[in-house]
Amino acid sequence: MAERDPERSLLEVLTYPDALLKRVAEPVERFDAELRDFIEDLAHTMEAGPAAVGIAAPQVGRGQRLVIVDVSARPRAAGHGRLVLINPEITAWEGHAVGREGCLSVPDYTGNVIRAERIQVNARDPRGAALEFAFEGFEARVVQHEMDHLDGLLFLDRLVSRRSDLFARRPRGA
Ligand code: NI
Repeated sequence: MAERDPERSLLEVLTYPDALLKRVAEPVERFDAELRDFIEDLAHTMEAGPAAVGIAAPQVGRGQRLVIVDVSARPRAAGHGRLVLINPEITAWEGHAVGREGCLSVPDYTGNVIRAERIQVNARDPRGAALEFAFEGFEARVVQHEMDHLDGLLFLDRLVSRRSDLFARRPRGA
């Protein structure tokens, strides 16, 4: 997988049912060099994951409201490229759609989840500047999935039915 920057640390990704994944994360208050260093390690960790399109700080045990989203590797998924969203808030929702989701913290399963089709999001960038985005389609889904991690929620918590909406991934190499 991507080994773009050998100077960067690969962080350990927590997996279900680790209790830290259920914790509600705290807002980021210090937009400093330590934070930006962490963000680069987190991005490196995301890029090393299998086909990952997003990651949230709580997935590596850091209880802060920070996510990274990048859907640019997905065919037909229009998006903004790599985005770091700190203290993100959804300010508007529109529509809803069912789609399949996976998660680095739930490596053996995917699931069908209902999400808003279009959202407006306010956030901060790594230097604390205010950002505002409109997301739609797959990118909107990924942002909602990653933001759920900040409230201690996994896609497993969003399934209407574990019987019909949860799917085992095939074993690696199969
Ligand atoms: Ni996830």
